[in-house]
Amino acid sequence: MTSSPYRKEIFPISIYHSTVENHQRLKSLLIPYILNEMNIRSKKEISAPKGWFTDNLVTSFSSKDVTRTLWNPENDVGAEVRYQFLKLIDSFFVDYPWSIDCDHIWYNYYINGEWQESHNHISQMGVDQTHFAFVYFLSYNSKIHSPLIFNDPSEIIKCISPALDPSEMMGKYQPKVREGDVLMFPAYLQHEVRPGKPTPNYPRMTLAMNIKVKRYGKYGEDND
Ligand SMILES: [Fe+2]
Repeated sequence: MTSSPYRKEIFPISIYHSTVENHQRLKSLLIPYILNEMNIRSKKEISAPKGWFTDNLVTSFSSKDVTRTLWNPENDVGAEVRYQFLKLIDSFFVDYPWSIDCDHIWYNYYINGEWQESHNHISQMGVDQTHFAFVYFLSYNSKIHSPLIFNDPSEIIKCISPALDPSEMMGKYQPKVREGDVLMFPAYLQHEVRPGKPTPNYPRMTLAMNIKVKRYGKYGEDND
């Protein structure tokens, strides 16, 4: 007896996509905070840190103050960010009880064709490893802003054998994102934002966060 031919995708990579509960509230708290934060910093303090290729990106990546504020339940903006982000994470971590640490949260501001090279969120030297990256599209219009593009980590290996159904964007994936959406994905997954056109009337703004899973079901059980 012969079996019917079939085709199956194996070893998929999961990305998690959802929308915050109350985007307008987050926007009303976060945008004034970010604009003020950018104003009180020197240009150097909100430039891409050493080791990044981009020479055109406004980011609070190097600021510990921003993490301290935005993950702090004792102020209005931090309390709202924390509440809404944890609620989303709870909707992604569905199968087991969980706990996480957020040790780094930062904003990115694109107004004049800024960009970021393909990168991942794996911690250097593996110390305090990040498990998931989380991106919130705080101010975003897909018609005028550059999308976030994921790169297939197996792309080079896959070149050895031809795909029988090659897509135009082989090795790349560009999720359809709207303002207020969130993407969570494994820290190893390379992603990039390509240079766009200036958008002086509508800056592209995102919040990025690194998530460390402390417990998920049996994982992390021995940490206590
Ligand atoms: Fe990133």
